[in-house]
Amino acid sequence: MVIRALAPSDSPLLAALHAAALPPGEAWGEDAFARLVALPGAVGVLAAEGAVPVGFVLARRAADEAEILAFAVLPERRRRGIGRALLDACLEVLAGQGVGRVFLEVAADNAGARALYGAAGFVSAGLRRDYYGAGRDALLLVRALSPPCEG
Ligand SMILES: CC(C)(COP(=O)(O)OP(=O)(O)OC[C@H]1O[C@@H](n2cnc3c(N)ncnc32)[C@H](O)[C@@H]1OP(=O)(O)O)[C@@H](O)C(=O)NCCC(=O)NCCS
Repeated sequence: MVIRALAPSDSPLLAALHAAALPPGEAWGEDAFARLVALPGAVGVLAAEGAVPVGFVLARRAADEAEILAFAVLPERRRRGIGRALLDACLEVLAGQGVGRVFLEVAADNAGARALYGAAGFVSAGLRRDYYGAGRDALLLVRALSPPCEG
């Protein structure tokens, strides 16, 4: 597996991966990703196995804080460590940019993602009721980052 930084030209690819990874109707389109990738402070990484793109993480930094905006791995490539490797790579980039705290929202019923985030050191920072629609809450999670070691 190779992990590389996202480029603005990756927007169609991100939309395709997102559509393949999320339930119908929940994925964001190419225009949305084009806007997000072009935002100031956008940071993202893409994983590929051979020539096949298999997942990505997209975050946005604002000063010394950041938010994970989107995170997806193709269904047939899951439970092989790709998601965790992507998340770690993204957090490393953010730490290198001086980010001290990373936030994200995850659906309360998304047990898989919650397990991954917990193992990666994210802790609960709040609850957003009905965030994903009536009766579907989001948990707000946060993780502190340390500055990268020098030398
Ligand atoms: C969440 C997601 C990105 C994880 O990708 P992945 O490549 O399968 O993750 P990993 O293989 O690195 O998983 C690392 C660990 O997280 C936990 N985990 C991941 N998926 C899990 C699941 N479905 N059930 C339980 N634990 C899970 C496990 O502890 C796993 O380690 P293990 O396989 O050794 O038990 C992927 O399931 C996905 O794209 N889901 C749909 C989109 C989504 O929910 N994104 C997050 C939005 S907040």
